[in-house]
Amino acid sequence: MCGIFGRVSTKDVVPSVVAGLRQLDYRGYDSVGVAFLRPEGMYLLRNVGPAVDLERRLQLKGFPTSTCGIGHTRWATHGGVSERNAHPHLSSNERVAVVHNGTIENYQRLRTELIALGHVFRSDTDTEVIPNLVQRALEHGAASLEDAVAEATSHIHGAYAVAVISIDHPNVIVAARNSSPLVAGMCTDGGVLLASDEAAIADLAGSILRLGDNEIITLRIQDGLTIRGQDKRATLARLQQPSVRAEDVALGDFETRMAQEIFTQPLSLAATIRSRVNPKDHSVRLGGIERVLQRVSDCRGITIVACGTSYYAALAGARLIESLARMPVHVKEASEFAYSDPILGYQDVVIGVSQSGETMDVIKALELAKVRGALVLGITNTNASAIARMVSAGVYLRVGPEFAVASTKAFSGQVTVFAMLAALLAEAGKRGVPTKTWSLIDDISRIPELVDETLLTHETVTRIARTYAHCKRMLFLGKGYGLPLALEGALKVTEIAYIDATAYGAGQLKHGPIALIEPGVPVVVIVPNDATLRTKVLSSVHEVYSRGGSVIAVASDAVMAGEDGQTITDTSAEVIVVPYVKDELAPVVYAPVVQMLALGLAEALGRNVDQPRNLAKSVTVE
Ligand code: M6R
Repeated sequence: MCGIFGRVSTKDVVPSVVAGLRQLDYRGYDSVGVAFLRPEGMYLLRNVGPAVDLERRLQLKGFPTSTCGIGHTRWATHGGVSERNAHPHLSSNERVAVVHNGTIENYQRLRTELIALGHVFRSDTDTEVIPNLVQRALEHGAASLEDAVAEATSHIHGAYAVAVISIDHPNVIVAARNSSPLVAGMCTDGGVLLASDEAAIADLAGSILRLGDNEIITLRIQDGLTIRGQDKRATLARLQQPSVRAEDVALGDFETRMAQEIFTQPLSLAATIRSRVNPKDHSVRLGGIERVLQRVSDCRGITIVACGTSYYAALAGARLIESLARMPVHVKEASEFAYSDPILGYQDVVIGVSQSGETMDVIKALELAKVRGALVLGITNTNASAIARMVSAGVYLRVGPEFAVASTKAFSGQVTVFAMLAALLAEAGKRGVPTKTWSLIDDISRIPELVDETLLTHETVTRIARTYAHCKRMLFLGKGYGLPLALEGALKVTEIAYIDATAYGAGQLKHGPIALIEPGVPVVVIVPNDATLRTKVLSSVHEVYSRGGSVIAVASDAVMAGEDGQTITDTSAEVIVVPYVKDELAPVVYAPVVQMLALGLAEALGRNVDQPRNLAKSVTVE
C-alpha cells in the first residue's frame, strides 16, 4: 500500500504536505515525492527512501512555497524502487501531476494506446497512464479538471485512489477512488486537505468526509469540498467528526511506534473490552453484531479468513469458539480461500479479520463468500475501512491506530475480541459449559492488568534478546493455545529482525524439525498451564535440551516439572516467568513476551524497527 496526501489553502501548504507524508510513512517508505503548483510551473521532487530523506533534500534546495500540492509515499508494485518510478507522475506535457494508490489492471493496453497517440512515458509504473489520460481529456474539451478526471477514470479498471493537480487549474485538487481508501477534510486553520488515511490528517482536520467508491471530489480554496454530481448541501451533510484524534497518533516518549504499541497494550485492551464485558453478571455485549447474533449462533459453520498476524489471531479465535461455543470453525489463509471452491451457502458465516480493513486478499475472500450467500462479518481496527463497509456486521478492535509494520496491539485486540465472541456465542446458543464461559468472562475483564504484569518481564526479555541476537535461526514451539502465539512470535522475529524464525507445534518437533537443533540454537517454548498439555510440551523441551538447543521457556512457574521430575529451570537456558492465566487467554496475555523479544532482537541488530525492509503496513494488492 502507499500513502496519499494533498492540501489546498490560502497559506503555504508545503510544510503540512511534508509532515503529512512523514505521518503516512508507515504505508510505504521505499520512495516518496511531492508536486506543488507554483506561479512558474509545476514543482516536482521525488526521492528514494522515506519521507524524512525527501524533507532533507527540500531543506537543502530551499523549501518552495505553494498553496496547492500533493504527495505520495510508495511501496513498489509495478516498477522497481527508483526516483523515476516514485510518485507524483507527470503527463507527457508536464502540466498534470498524479499520485495513485492501487493497481490499474488494464494499464498495458492503455499505455500502448497512449504511446501510439504520441504520449511519452518515463516510468515503469501503471500509474503513469492516469496523468496522460487526464492530459488527453483536457486537450479534447474537458471543461474542468474534474471532468477530465472523470473521463480518465472511466477508462481504468482496478482499485485506485488518485489525486490530481494541473498547472492550468490553480488551487484545485481533484481526487477519485475505487476500493482504495481516501478521506478529505476541512482544516481547522483554513483550507481543505485529503489523505489515504485519517490518521495523517488527525491534527489538521476539524471535520472529515470519507469518499465512497467511484466518487470524485474537488478540493478548492473558495468553496471547500464538492462531490461530483451532488449539490453543496449534500456534500456538507456528509462531513463527520474525525474518529482519530491527534493524541492517538502522537509517539509520546517512545522511540519507535512498535515500542509504543507494545507497551500501551494494557490501555488499548482496556478500550477493547470497555462496556462490552461485565464480570458482575458474566455478560458480554458486542453491539456491532447483535442484529445478526442469532443467525451466527444457528449457522452450520464459521470460516475465518485473514493474513499474517490476523491469521494467527484467527487460529486462536477458532479454538476459542470451538471450545467455548462448540461450533465448527475453519481458518483459511485469505489469499488461498479467494481462489478456492469453498462449500458455502446461506447457512454459513464467514468472518474476515484485518487490522487495516484494507488487505486485498481478505477483501477478495469476502467477496467470494458474499457471492456464495454466506453471512459475512468483519473484525477490524479501522473505522469505515473497505472491509468494515462491505460486511453485514462486525466488531471493531478499538485498540487505536496501529502504525508499526509489525502488528502487535492488533493481535492482542483480535484474540480478545474472539474471546468475547466465543463467550457470546456460547451463551446465545446455550452451548458449552456455562461455568467455563463465566470464568472466561471474568478472565477477559482482567486482561489489561495481566498484560501489564507480563510487560514487567521487559528487562529479562531484552537481555535474552541481546544474548541471542546473532543466532542464524530461531525456533518457536507451542501447543494448544500456545501454537498461534508461537507462530506469531516467529513472524515478528522474521519480519523485523530478519532472523530465520519458524514455529512448530511442540508435538511436531520429533517429526522433522528436530533435525535443526544443534548446540546453541535458541528455541522459544510457550509452556501451557493446562497440566496435560504441559507434560507433553516439557518432554519436547527435554528433546531440545538433550541435543544442546537453548530453550527459552515462557512459563508461569519456573519450578514446574516434567514426567522425569526435572523442572523447567533445569532444562532451559532461560525462563521468562509470566503471570498465570488460563490457556484460552495465553495468546493475549503472553503476546508481549514474543513482541518484546522481536523488538529487542531487531534493536540489538540495528534494524529499522518501524520500517523493516520490503514491507508495508498493509497489503492492498493481491
Ligand atoms: O491489516 P491486516 O491485519 O489485514 O494485515 C495482515 C498482514 O499483512 C499483517 O498482519 C502482516 O503480516 C504484519 N506485518 C504482521 O506483523
